[in-house]
Formats: sequence, C-alpha cells, structure tokens
Amino acid sequence: MNDVRRWVVPGRVNLIGEHLDYNGGPVLPIAIDKHVTVKARHRDDTELHVWSDLGPKVVIRPDVAPGHAWADVVAGAAKALGHVVGADLVIESDLPAGAGLASSAATACGTVLALADLAGLELSRAEVAETARRAETDFRGAPIGVMDQLAVLHDGANLVDTRSGDVTPVSLEWDGLSLVVIDTGVKHQVAAGEYAARRAECEAAAETLGIEYLASAGPDAVLRFDDDDPLKSRVRHVITESTRVRGAVRAIGERSWDRLGGLLTSSHESLRDDFAVSCGELDVAVEAALDAGALGARMTGAGFGGCAIALAPTDRLLGLREKVIAAFADHDWASPTLLTTRPAPGATLGA
Ligand code: GLA
Repeated sequence: MNDVRRWVVPGRVNLIGEHLDYNGGPVLPIAIDKHVTVKARHRDDTELHVWSDLGPKVVIRPDVAPGHAWADVVAGAAKALGHVVGADLVIESDLPAGAGLASSAATACGTVLALADLAGLELSRAEVAETARRAETDFRGAPIGVMDQLAVLHDGANLVDTRSGDVTPVSLEWDGLSLVVIDTGVKHQVAAGEYAARRAECEAAAETLGIEYLASAGPDAVLRFDDDDPLKSRVRHVITESTRVRGAVRAIGERSWDRLGGLLTSSHESLRDDFAVSCGELDVAVEAALDAGALGARMTGAGFGGCAIALAPTDRLLGLREKVIAAFADHDWASPTLLTTRPAPGATLGA
C-alpha cells in the first residue's frame, strides 16, 4: 500500500456572521478557489515525516508536544485523531498563511482526511471538522469555533447553524458582481490574546444573562449592561450580527444585492465599533472599496489584520484596485494584495 493520495482543501472567506460560531449563531462562509494540498503515503513506522515549503522537514512522533512552528497544526491534527498511522506528508499551498483565509483549518482538515484515509477510518464531515478544530484548541491553545473547518469541507457557500451543526447550501448567482479579497498583509495570530479575550467576554456576558450561547440573547439583553461596560457592545454585536446573517440570506434569495452589500458594511462597522476586532488597514481597505463603488465591504475572519472582502460591480474592479492601493500608499503602508474569488468545491480526494 504505497500509493500517494492527494487531498485538496480550499480556504474560505466568511461572507457574513463574524465571531458568531463560538456564540452559537449563524454564519455564512464560502469555500474559495485557493487551496492547501496534502499528499500522503503510508509508512511502516508510527512517524509522520512532513515536507512543506513553509519550512524544513519535520518528523512528528506519537508523543509529540507543541513547538514545531508551522507544523504544529499537522501535529495537532494527528494527535486529535489519535495518531492512528505513520505517513509521509507533503503539504503545498497557494493560500496565504495568517491572512484570515483559513489556511490552518485547511491544513488541519487535509491532515485529518489524509491520515484517516490511510488508516481506513470513515469519518463524517462533522467528525473531520471537530477533529481538525481540536488541533487548534487542544494542541495550539487557540480557542476557535468550528466555522472554518466546516466551511472548507463543504462546497461553495453555506449557512451554518453553529448550534445544531446544520449546514445548508446557499446559491450565490450574482451576475455582474465580483467578490474581491483584499489582503492587508497584516498577519494575524489567532492564538494571540485578543481573540481569546473576546471569546471570554462573550462567555462572561452569556453567564450574566443566564444563557448558554450569547447568540440566543433577545434584543433587550443589552439593557442588562451599563453603558460604560464593554460587554454591552460585545453583546450588541452578537445580536445585531445574527440578525444581519438572517437578513443576508433573505437578500440573497431575493437577489437584492444592494441590500446584501449594506449588510456587509454594517457588519464591518459593528466589528469595528462594538466588537473591536478591526484595525486601521482593514478600515481603510473597506472605506476605499466603498469609495470605489463596492456595494458593501467588510473584514472577514478573526480580524486584527488579515483580509477584507468587497462585493463590487465587475466593471468597477480596476478602479477599486487603484483606490485601495492608493489609500494604502497614502498611509505609507505596504501595498495590499487584491484578488477576485468565487465559490469552489470543498475538500476532495484529487486525481
Ligand atoms: C477565526 C476562527 C473562527 C471564527 C472566526 C471569526 O477564523 O477560526 O472559528 O471564530 O475567526 O468569525
């Protein structure tokens, strides 16, 4: 059994529903046409030998502890699966790492899929997602939700109910419009404190309200917090963002792209002002995109850097690119990278 098996796993952008997955709210991520590829071959011992252009070859043994830099996500995924098999793994990617496009989730899911396949284990997509998530939470200490893992395992755009785990496909047929990804180049690090701090604030607010998931709070929940209490604005974001996701699903169904755009922009404002996870570069990217005629724009993913997305008429793309690049130059910031993206298949076993 020395065949090489090749798993191709996309990245994702989140269209709307940010910082809701660990609050039991709805999210609407899209698998995109940039990928992590994991090639895997059986080994006769219990070791994982991992090659990647991200760094020198790493050997991972069953008693592995964190500390392998880029390969920790592979080690964490193997450990979460129970280190079921030895393998040679080659990991390649055209997804920028640390840009908020779920490169870690794609690598973890690819590793779990590849190792489970070599070991002859049959896992549902929910089980793959949960195992890959534990690579981050248990091994790397990043207390993330499960949105990214589910997003990269399913085709195209999906409404995910993060409480029930239900995943419902959403068809995006926005003729004449393009989804633009603006990579600010500011690297974010989910394991760093701010993400965990927001999650802890949400848990504290849910406890005050006597509910398990903050997203199930009613609109009057904000009244329970003093005006100068930061928890008040965190709660307001979670409630209003949940409403925006439902509004976005309706707008998409009615092909009301202006309305969808407005919801994306309101989502950004809420993340900036109430949830406080944006940064100068993301705000400037969003403003410049709107200035150039985008219907809506917002940061996507955890925030604190990474990428913004803009929904824009395709015939305005050139102007949008120029405006965003000029706005960054005005601030003396390194030039951002822009690309258009589209919904793509979820993880597949390649030829
Ligand atoms: C990161 C996490 C996700 C989610 C987003 C914010 O991408 O991995 O679980 O919490 O941030 O919506």
